[in-house]
Amino acid sequence: MRKKITVVGAGNVGATCAHRLADKQLGDVVLIDILEGVPQGKALDLLEAGPIEGYDVRVKGTNDFADTANSDVVVMTAGFPRKPGMSRDDLLKANYDVVKGTIEKVAKVSPEAFLIIVTNPLDAMAQTALKVSGFSKNRVIGMAGVLDTARYRTFIAEALNVSVQNVQGFVLGGHGDTMVPVPRYTTVAGIPVGELMPKDKLDAIIDRTRKGGAEIVNYLKTGSAFYAPSAAAVEMVEAIFYDRKKILPCTAYLEGEYGINGLFIGVPVKLGARGIEEIIQIKLTAEEQAALQKSADAVKELVDVIGV
Ligand code: LAC
Repeated sequence: MRKKITVVGAGNVGATCAHRLADKQLGDVVLIDILEGVPQGKALDLLEAGPIEGYDVRVKGTNDFADTANSDVVVMTAGFPRKPGMSRDDLLKANYDVVKGTIEKVAKVSPEAFLIIVTNPLDAMAQTALKVSGFSKNRVIGMAGVLDTARYRTFIAEALNVSVQNVQGFVLGGHGDTMVPVPRYTTVAGIPVGELMPKDKLDAIIDRTRKGGAEIVNYLKTGSAFYAPSAAAVEMVEAIFYDRKKILPCTAYLEGEYGINGLFIGVPVKLGARGIEEIIQIKLTAEEQAALQKSADAVKELVDVIGV
Protein backbone atom coordinates (compact mmCIF):
# COMPACT_ATOMS: atom_id res chain seq x y z
CA MET A 1 0.00 0.00 0.00
CA ARG A 2 1.20 3.43 -0.89
CA LYS A 3 1.69 5.92 1.89
CA LYS A 4 -0.64 8.88 2.16
CA ILE A 5 0.62 12.39 2.68
CA THR A 6 -1.57 15.39 3.34
CA VAL A 7 -0.23 18.83 2.59
CA VAL A 8 -2.25 21.54 4.30
CA GLY A 9 -2.09 24.82 2.38
CA ALA A 10 -2.05 25.04 -1.41
CA GLY A 11 0.10 28.16 -1.55
CA ASN A 12 3.66 28.21 -2.83
CA VAL A 13 5.18 26.09 -0.05
CA GLY A 14 2.34 23.56 -0.01
CA ALA A 15 2.01 23.20 -3.77
CA THR A 16 5.77 22.87 -4.21
CA CYS A 17 5.82 20.25 -1.47
CA ALA A 18 3.08 18.32 -3.28
CA HIS A 19 5.08 18.61 -6.50
CA ARG A 20 8.26 17.24 -4.90
CA LEU A 21 6.39 14.46 -3.08
CA ALA A 22 4.74 13.32 -6.33
CA ASP A 23 8.01 13.53 -8.29
CA LYS A 24 9.72 11.37 -5.68
CA GLN A 25 6.68 9.04 -5.57
CA LEU A 26 6.71 9.12 -1.79
CA GLY A 27 2.98 8.41 -1.64
CA ASP A 28 -0.47 9.58 -2.62
CA VAL A 29 -0.80 13.28 -1.95
CA VAL A 30 -3.84 15.17 -0.70
CA LEU A 31 -3.58 18.93 -1.05
CA ILE A 32 -6.07 20.79 1.12
CA ASP A 33 -6.83 24.49 1.50
CA ILE A 34 -9.76 26.64 2.54
CA LEU A 35 -9.69 28.40 -0.83
CA GLU A 36 -12.12 26.67 -3.16
CA GLY A 37 -10.69 25.53 -6.45
CA VAL A 38 -7.02 26.26 -5.79
CA PRO A 39 -6.08 22.88 -4.26
CA GLN A 40 -8.29 21.08 -6.79
CA GLY A 41 -6.72 22.89 -9.73
CA LYS A 42 -3.11 22.52 -8.60
CA ALA A 43 -3.59 18.86 -7.65
CA LEU A 44 -5.21 18.02 -10.98
CA ASP A 45 -2.41 19.78 -12.81
CA LEU A 46 0.16 17.75 -10.85
CA LEU A 47 -1.77 14.53 -11.50
CA GLU A 48 -1.74 15.27 -15.20
CA ALA A 49 2.06 15.62 -15.11
CA GLY A 50 2.22 11.96 -14.01
CA PRO A 51 2.25 10.39 -17.49
CA ILE A 52 5.15 12.65 -18.49
CA GLU A 53 7.13 12.33 -15.29
CA GLY A 54 6.25 8.67 -14.93
CA TYR A 55 4.56 8.63 -11.56
CA ASP A 56 1.37 6.78 -10.66
CA VAL A 57 0.79 8.35 -7.27
CA ARG A 58 -2.57 10.00 -6.87
CA VAL A 59 -2.76 13.72 -6.23
CA LYS A 60 -6.06 15.04 -4.99
CA GLY A 61 -7.11 18.58 -4.14
CA THR A 62 -9.86 19.22 -1.64
CA ASN A 63 -11.46 21.56 0.88
CA ASP A 64 -12.76 18.68 3.01
CA PHE A 65 -10.70 17.22 5.86
CA ALA A 66 -12.53 13.90 5.47
CA ASP A 67 -10.40 13.35 2.35
CA THR A 68 -7.23 13.54 4.46
CA ALA A 69 -8.25 10.63 6.70
CA ASN A 70 -5.61 8.07 7.63
CA SER A 71 -2.67 10.08 6.40
CA ASP A 72 0.76 8.80 7.37
CA VAL A 73 2.23 12.28 7.35
CA VAL A 74 0.65 15.72 7.42
CA VAL A 75 2.78 18.64 6.29
CA MET A 76 1.31 21.83 7.74
CA THR A 77 2.11 24.84 5.57
CA ALA A 78 -1.11 26.86 5.81
CA GLY A 79 -0.95 30.30 7.29
CA PHE A 80 -0.25 33.87 6.42
CA PRO A 81 3.18 34.44 4.83
CA ARG A 82 5.61 37.15 5.79
CA LYS A 83 5.47 40.45 3.96
CA PRO A 84 8.49 42.77 3.66
CA GLY A 85 9.25 44.44 6.97
CA MET A 86 7.20 41.89 8.88
CA SER A 87 8.94 39.58 11.34
CA ARG A 88 7.99 35.95 11.68
CA ASP A 89 6.64 36.82 15.10
CA ASP A 90 4.12 39.31 13.71
CA LEU A 91 2.41 36.29 12.30
CA LEU A 92 1.97 34.73 15.69
CA LYS A 93 -1.64 35.30 16.54
CA ALA A 94 -3.09 34.99 13.06
CA ASN A 95 -1.31 31.74 12.39
CA TYR A 96 -2.03 30.35 15.85
CA ASP A 97 -5.72 30.36 14.94
CA VAL A 98 -5.01 28.69 11.60
CA VAL A 99 -2.79 25.98 13.10
CA LYS A 100 -5.11 25.28 16.03
CA GLY A 101 -8.18 24.94 13.83
CA THR A 102 -6.40 22.79 11.28
CA ILE A 103 -4.57 20.45 13.62
CA GLU A 104 -7.76 19.77 15.58
CA LYS A 105 -9.39 18.50 12.38
CA VAL A 106 -6.31 16.68 11.11
CA ALA A 107 -5.65 14.86 14.38
CA LYS A 108 -9.21 13.59 14.54
CA VAL A 109 -9.12 11.87 11.13
CA SER A 110 -5.42 10.87 11.06
CA PRO A 111 -4.66 9.88 14.65
CA GLU A 112 -1.51 7.97 13.70
CA ALA A 113 0.07 10.64 11.50
CA PHE A 114 3.39 12.38 11.86
CA LEU A 115 2.98 16.15 11.81
CA ILE A 116 5.62 18.26 10.08
CA ILE A 117 5.07 21.90 10.89
CA VAL A 118 6.22 24.58 8.47
CA THR A 119 3.89 27.47 9.35
CA ASN A 120 5.61 30.45 11.03
CA PRO A 121 6.51 31.37 13.66
CA LEU A 122 7.60 27.83 13.38
CA ASP A 123 8.69 26.81 16.87
CA ALA A 124 5.57 28.25 18.49
CA MET A 125 3.36 26.66 15.83
CA ALA A 126 4.97 23.26 16.45
CA GLN A 127 4.23 23.71 20.15
CA THR A 128 0.62 24.59 19.24
CA ALA A 129 0.35 21.44 17.12
CA LEU A 130 1.69 19.24 19.93
CA LYS A 131 -0.75 20.64 22.46
CA VAL A 132 -3.77 20.64 20.17
CA SER A 133 -3.18 17.17 18.70
CA GLY A 134 -2.25 15.46 21.94
CA PHE A 135 0.16 13.36 19.85
CA SER A 136 3.36 12.01 21.34
CA LYS A 137 6.32 14.35 20.98
CA ASN A 138 8.20 12.06 18.58
CA ARG A 139 5.40 12.62 16.01
CA VAL A 140 5.34 16.42 16.01
CA ILE A 141 8.35 17.88 14.23
CA GLY A 142 9.13 21.38 13.05
CA MET A 143 10.88 22.07 9.76
CA ALA A 144 13.40 24.85 10.25
CA GLY A 145 16.89 23.57 10.89
CA VAL A 146 17.07 21.70 7.60
CA LEU A 147 16.19 24.89 5.74
CA ASP A 148 18.43 27.19 7.76
CA THR A 149 21.28 24.69 7.50
CA ALA A 150 20.76 24.38 3.75
CA ARG A 151 21.17 28.13 3.42
CA TYR A 152 24.28 28.05 5.64
CA ARG A 153 25.76 25.19 3.59
CA THR A 154 24.96 26.98 0.32
CA PHE A 155 26.77 30.15 1.38
CA ILE A 156 29.83 28.25 2.65
CA ALA A 157 30.06 26.14 -0.52
CA GLU A 158 29.72 29.26 -2.65
CA ALA A 159 32.42 31.12 -0.69
CA LEU A 160 34.88 28.21 -0.93
CA ASN A 161 33.85 27.20 -4.44
CA VAL A 162 33.28 23.58 -3.36
CA SER A 163 30.38 21.16 -3.67
CA VAL A 164 27.49 21.79 -1.30
CA GLN A 165 27.68 18.07 -0.57
CA ASN A 166 31.05 18.59 1.07
CA VAL A 167 29.64 21.05 3.57
CA GLN A 168 28.19 19.57 6.75
CA GLY A 169 26.94 21.40 9.78
CA PHE A 170 23.79 22.48 11.53
CA VAL A 171 21.91 25.43 12.84
CA LEU A 172 20.44 25.21 16.33
CA GLY A 173 17.74 27.22 18.07
CA GLY A 174 14.52 28.83 16.96
CA HIS A 175 13.67 29.69 13.36
CA GLY A 176 14.22 33.38 13.84
CA ASP A 177 16.86 36.03 14.12
CA THR A 178 18.32 34.29 17.18
CA MET A 179 19.08 31.01 15.41
CA VAL A 180 22.49 29.56 16.25
CA PRO A 181 24.75 28.28 13.45
CA VAL A 182 27.58 26.35 15.08
CA PRO A 183 30.88 26.83 13.19
CA ARG A 184 32.72 24.53 15.60
CA TYR A 185 30.70 21.61 14.23
CA THR A 186 30.82 22.75 10.62
CA THR A 187 33.11 20.82 8.31
CA VAL A 188 34.03 20.77 4.64
CA ALA A 189 34.93 17.23 3.60
CA GLY A 190 35.80 16.62 7.25
CA ILE A 191 37.95 19.75 7.58
CA PRO A 192 36.77 22.23 10.22
CA VAL A 193 35.46 25.25 8.34
CA GLY A 194 37.52 27.61 10.49
CA GLU A 195 40.66 26.23 8.85
CA LEU A 196 39.42 27.13 5.38
CA MET A 197 37.93 30.55 5.93
CA PRO A 198 38.83 33.63 7.98
CA LYS A 199 36.53 34.37 10.91
CA ASP A 200 35.11 37.60 9.48
CA LYS A 201 33.99 35.78 6.34
CA LEU A 202 32.33 33.04 8.35
CA ASP A 203 30.67 35.63 10.61
CA ALA A 204 29.22 37.30 7.52
CA ILE A 205 27.85 33.93 6.36
CA ILE A 206 26.30 33.31 9.77
CA ASP A 207 24.66 36.70 9.65
CA ARG A 208 23.34 36.09 6.16
CA THR A 209 22.00 32.69 7.25
CA ARG A 210 20.11 34.27 10.15
CA LYS A 211 18.50 36.70 7.72
CA GLY A 212 18.10 34.12 4.96
CA GLY A 213 14.30 34.14 5.05
CA ALA A 214 14.11 37.93 4.97
CA GLU A 215 16.56 38.08 2.05
CA ILE A 216 14.10 36.11 -0.07
CA VAL A 217 11.08 38.07 1.19
CA ASN A 218 12.80 41.30 0.21
CA TYR A 219 13.29 40.03 -3.32
CA LEU A 220 9.85 38.52 -3.76
CA LYS A 221 7.97 41.38 -2.06
CA THR A 222 4.67 39.48 -2.04
CA GLY A 223 5.66 36.30 -0.27
CA SER A 224 8.38 34.22 1.27
CA ALA A 225 10.68 31.40 0.20
CA PHE A 226 9.21 28.13 -0.98
CA TYR A 227 11.67 26.06 -3.03
CA ALA A 228 14.12 25.44 -0.21
CA PRO A 229 11.45 25.21 2.53
CA SER A 230 9.52 22.56 0.57
CA ALA A 231 12.71 20.63 -0.20
CA ALA A 232 13.48 20.61 3.52
CA ALA A 233 10.04 19.30 4.50
CA VAL A 234 10.25 16.57 1.87
CA GLU A 235 13.69 15.47 3.10
CA MET A 236 12.08 14.95 6.50
CA VAL A 237 9.19 12.91 5.03
CA GLU A 238 11.73 10.76 3.19
CA ALA A 239 13.77 10.18 6.35
CA ILE A 240 10.63 8.93 8.11
CA PHE A 241 9.24 6.77 5.29
CA TYR A 242 12.59 5.15 4.47
CA ASP A 243 13.51 4.84 8.16
CA ARG A 244 16.80 6.50 7.29
CA LYS A 245 17.70 7.36 10.88
CA LYS A 246 19.11 10.53 9.43
CA ILE A 247 20.51 13.11 11.77
CA LEU A 248 18.91 16.38 10.84
CA PRO A 249 18.42 19.63 12.70
CA CYS A 250 14.69 19.75 13.46
CA THR A 251 12.44 21.62 15.80
CA ALA A 252 11.71 19.21 18.62
CA TYR A 253 9.99 19.28 21.99
CA LEU A 254 12.67 19.34 24.65
CA GLU A 255 12.16 18.01 28.14
CA GLY A 256 15.42 18.85 29.83
CA GLU A 257 17.79 18.31 26.91
CA TYR A 258 20.20 21.22 26.52
CA GLY A 259 18.82 22.51 29.84
CA ILE A 260 15.54 23.47 28.12
CA ASN A 261 12.24 22.15 29.37
CA GLY A 262 8.78 22.11 27.84
CA LEU A 263 9.66 23.97 24.68
CA PHE A 264 10.13 23.38 20.95
CA ILE A 265 13.52 24.43 19.65
CA GLY A 266 15.88 23.37 16.86
CA VAL A 267 18.33 20.61 17.79
CA PRO A 268 19.91 17.69 15.94
CA VAL A 269 17.58 14.70 16.01
CA LYS A 270 17.60 11.22 14.56
CA LEU A 271 14.68 10.97 12.13
CA GLY A 272 13.38 7.51 11.25
CA ALA A 273 10.24 5.39 11.09
CA ARG A 274 9.27 6.40 14.61
CA GLY A 275 9.70 10.09 13.82
CA ILE A 276 12.09 11.71 16.26
CA GLU A 277 13.87 8.61 17.53
CA GLU A 278 16.51 10.45 19.49
CA ILE A 279 17.52 13.96 20.38
CA ILE A 280 21.26 14.16 19.81
CA GLN A 281 22.90 16.02 22.64
CA ILE A 282 26.21 17.56 21.72
CA LYS A 283 28.58 19.43 23.96
CA LEU A 284 28.29 23.18 23.63
CA THR A 285 30.67 25.85 24.87
CA ALA A 286 29.30 28.30 27.43
CA GLU A 287 28.94 30.84 24.63
CA GLU A 288 27.02 28.47 22.34
CA GLN A 289 24.80 27.36 25.22
CA ALA A 290 24.05 30.99 26.05
CA ALA A 291 23.13 31.68 22.42
CA LEU A 292 20.82 28.66 22.40
CA GLN A 293 19.24 29.76 25.67
CA LYS A 294 18.67 33.25 24.26
CA SER A 295 16.96 31.70 21.26
CA ALA A 296 14.84 29.51 23.54
CA ASP A 297 13.86 32.59 25.55
CA ALA A 298 12.65 34.25 22.35
CA VAL A 299 10.51 31.20 21.51
CA LYS A 300 9.20 31.05 25.09
CA GLU A 301 7.98 34.62 24.84
CA LEU A 302 5.81 33.70 21.86
CA VAL A 303 4.58 30.51 23.40
CA ASP A 304 3.55 32.43 26.51
CA VAL A 305 1.59 34.96 24.44
CA ILE A 306 -0.55 32.23 22.88
CA GLY A 307 -0.58 30.14 26.05
CA VAL A 308 0.47 26.77 24.65
C1 LAC B 1 12.00 31.43 5.56
C2 LAC B 1 10.62 31.69 6.06
C3 LAC B 1 9.62 30.87 5.35
O1 LAC B 1 12.89 31.17 6.37
O2 LAC B 1 10.55 31.49 7.41
O3 LAC B 1 12.18 31.47 4.35
